[in-house]
Amino acid sequence: MSPLRNRIALVHGVNLDMLGQRDPAHYGTLTLSELEQRVVGFGAELGLEVSCFQTNSERDLVEHLHGLTVAADGIVINPGAWTHYAWAIHDALEIAGLPAVEVHLSAIDEREPWRKVSVVRDLVLACVSGQGLEGYREALVRLGKALDG
Ligand code: DQA
Repeated sequence: MSPLRNRIALVHGVNLDMLGQRDPAHYGTLTLSELEQRVVGFGAELGLEVSCFQTNSERDLVEHLHGLTVAADGIVINPGAWTHYAWAIHDALEIAGLPAVEVHLSAIDEREPWRKVSVVRDLVLACVSGQGLEGYREALVRLGKALDG
C-alpha cells in the first residue's frame, strides 16, 4: 500500500491578510482566519490535513515554499498580486516540486488586463478563479485526486 499523502499547504501571498477589509465584490467578506478555518474544514471532509501560511514578504514566501518539499504533499496557492509579476515565486514553487493548484477569489480573467498574467500557471495542475471560498474546496478536490492517482 502506498503511504498516505494528505498534507496540504495552503499558501496566501501579499495583501490577503487584509481580507474582510478589501472590496467585497471581488473578495467576499470573510477574514483570512475565517477563510483558513473553512478551508481546513473542507480538507478534513476530504481526508486532507491543511496547514496555513500567509505573508506580505516575498522573501518569506520563497523560503516557505523551499521548506514545503519535505513538509507537505501538495500546495494550494493564492499569491495575490505576486501572481502577476513575481518570477521568484514561480521559481520557488518549481523548486518545491509538489503538485499545486492556483486559486483566486476573484475572476482575474475578467478584471484589469494585467491580472490575466499568471507567473505560476505553467507549474500548476489547475487554476480556480472567481469562485470565492468555494474555489478552495474545488482546489482541494483537484489536489486530492492528483495525490490519490
Ligand atoms: C487575488 C487576485 C489578485 O489579482 C489580487 O492582486 C489579489 C487577490 C484573488 O484572490 O482574487 O490580491 O489573487
